[in-house]
Amino acid sequence: MQFDIITIFPRIFDSYFQTSILKRAQKKKLIKIKIHDLRFWAKDKHKTVDDTPYGGGPGMILKIEPIYKALKFLSKTRIPSKSLRSHGVLKKQKIVLLTPQGQKFDQKMAGQFSKLDKIIFVCGRYEGVDARVEKLVDKKVSIGDYVLTGGELPAMIIIDATTRLLPGVINKESLKEETFSKLIINSEYPQYTRPEVFTYKTKSAKIKKLKVPKVLLSGNHQKIAEWKLRSL
Ligand code: 6GU
Repeated sequence: MQFDIITIFPRIFDSYFQTSILKRAQKKKLIKIKIHDLRFWAKDKHKTVDDTPYGGGPGMILKIEPIYKALKFLSKTRIPSKSLRSHGVLKKQKIVLLTPQGQKFDQKMAGQFSKLDKIIFVCGRYEGVDARVEKLVDKKVSIGDYVLTGGELPAMIIIDATTRLLPGVINKESLKEETFSKLIINSEYPQYTRPEVFTYKTKSAKIKKLKVPKVLLSGNHQKIAEWKLRSL
């Protein structure tokens, strides 16, 4: 699966995508992440990608032309024909605009995204994007009811949640457990690792012990399964 990101802050993504599971997924060629600097598609020598809003108001607005050019370039493989697609000729792709006004991202959307071949993300910025840009995209997506300074963190979050659902990215058992316990968000059973007893001192010098539930140490798989279900 390929992710293309159009952004005015291309460097933001370096450390997260070069770390841990997302790094491994790229190495194993399960995903490809391409970052594109919107300024590349600016037409003037100053590489202008934003301008003041018509009708007045604070802040700067991302212009439509550079975004249009970027999308035209990055989606040129697009042939919107279902039959070609089902014959495996064409890639299933979506263009997503990241904006606080979008549809709320959730686990179900992550599942739908994980079935695509390619997603092109347009990272907005908090002052805004020319409203006509929404005519150029398939979907507007938000990650929650709060305002961020740009769509870059949302792009990382969506790519993370989508990638871990792709075959071969994470341990199959971890995904199976999720389905098995229908946990998805807010209903995950508590998990523990060593030590069996964690001892610490409070500010008032009291000694506290935090123990792992005995049943998890019992080796009785039936009992453990029951405990997990009860803890949902
Ligand atoms: Cl996608 N963008 C911005 N700027 N703020 C957000 C968001 C997106 N989702 C929640 N807040």
